[in-house]
Amino acid sequence: MTGFPSPSDSAPIQARNVRLALGRPPARVEILHGIDLTVATGETVALLGASGSGKSSLMAVLAGLERPTGGEVRVTGLDFTTLDEDALAVARRGRIGIVLQAFHLLPTMTALENVAVPLELAGAPDPFERAQAELAAVGLAARVDHYPAQLSGGEQQRVAIARALVGRPALLFADEPTGNLDTATGAAIMDLLFARAVEAGTTMLVITHDPALAARCTRVVELADGRIVADRRAA
Ligand SMILES: Nc1ncnc2c1ncn2[C@@H]1O[C@H](COP(=O)(O)OP(=O)(O)OP(=O)(O)O)[C@@H](O)[C@H]1O
Ligand SMILES: [Mg+2]
Repeated sequence: MTGFPSPSDSAPIQARNVRLALGRPPARVEILHGIDLTVATGETVALLGASGSGKSSLMAVLAGLERPTGGEVRVTGLDFTTLDEDALAVARRGRIGIVLQAFHLLPTMTALENVAVPLELAGAPDPFERAQAELAAVGLAARVDHYPAQLSGGEQQRVAIARALVGRPALLFADEPTGNLDTATGAAIMDLLFARAVEAGTTMLVITHDPALAARCTRVVELADGRIVADRRAA
């Protein structure tokens, strides 16, 4: 290697000319057409775009859930395109938290277990104590022994946020995290997500259709037909 590292060398997200095609011919769809995106530590990025523009697909690639068809994806310094499935799973566990529109909690586990089990799988010390503290931090100290079916939508999303953040990931990905919630509950969830992520210094990428939410981010990236068509600092 030659030269001095530029600030972007340490950027937790570095995507170069990322392409993604899914499905088999004749149903093969070209979804991402050469995405270049660098996100620096501590940035909060709103990812906007019409339905079908490729937002969730791009997030899946950056989170190591989907392999790009072409290009480079470097996440927290790791080249995701060269890792095998097992190595990717380990890399995700330690670095990435994900919150989705549908909360994806395990129905047979309590709130506490839903948050503690990923930590336990990662071999972290004191998973249940840490899960308890994280659930208290999202305002659910009194609900730790409830099953998902015994929680409201907003409470379930709080559990999902606790689960995503309990391992102190460098990156948090959220795909329409308030899409299944009423306006007031959604606003409270976003307050919580930003407060927890900013406090922990987490770099965050949030997919949203909500302009108010985008306005809270430090940067707004817009996709159309699998291409970045706008990339601006938020005011
Ligand atoms: N597994 C797949 N096989 C083939 N095409 C797919 C697959 N997954 C997604 N697509 C297509 O890729 C395009 C982008 O989908 P994606 O889910 O990334 O869009 P999005 O921007 O997240 O939209 P929305 O706002 O509706 O969630 C769509 O045209 C979709 O039909
Ligand atoms: Mg989507």
